[in-house]
Amino acid sequence: MHSDDLGVDLERILVDEEALNRRIVELAAQVDADYAGRDLILVGVLKGAVMLMADLSRAMKHPLEMDWMAVSSYGSGTTSSGVVRIIKDLDRDITGKHVLVVEDILDSGLTLSWLLRNLNSRGPASVEVLTMLRKPEAVRVAVTPAYVGFDIPNEFVVGYGLDYAEKYRNLRVVATLAPHVYS
Ligand code: PRP
Repeated sequence: MHSDDLGVDLERILVDEEALNRRIVELAAQVDADYAGRDLILVGVLKGAVMLMADLSRAMKHPLEMDWMAVSSYGSGTTSSGVVRIIKDLDRDITGKHVLVVEDILDSGLTLSWLLRNLNSRGPASVEVLTMLRKPEAVRVAVTPAYVGFDIPNEFVVGYGLDYAEKYRNLRVVATLAPHVYS
């Protein structure tokens, strides 16, 4: 889905396709260099990270492994509560492995801080985070990702994996929606 396909539902493009692609190539090269000679598992957090995992992993030269987790945050529709439940766990043991968690967005930090505690309790060699988007003004729990694509303002955004009511994940850009979409 292109931004034009949104028509009047589009408010503003925050990150366009070219900027996303360029940044992914940069991040992939950094991760390749940092993990050279080490076994690496990319852990994608469903569902938002699907697009990023697909693009990042294919931009990398490293013969990495991929695994997935699905977690659910209890809370209102647009904010996390910090109470997290595992819907789908990793398929493989990560003891002694280098893990890079791949996320579409770091918002309040509640999901990732819980996830990092959970993964670190399994005895991995290391756990780091790569997030495509970060909202510095929304942070409630400090999480320090090793890799950040873009810092964005504290606005509700969709696209590149991010949804509103499960829609717009397939939008090729990161954008805000016009107010009438929510009413
Ligand atoms: C989103 C996103 C992160 C989390 C970030 O997931 O993918 O996991 O929220 O928010 P936080 O920093 O405030 O915890 P969501 O729960 O919307 O699930 P989804 O990926 O399936 O859309």
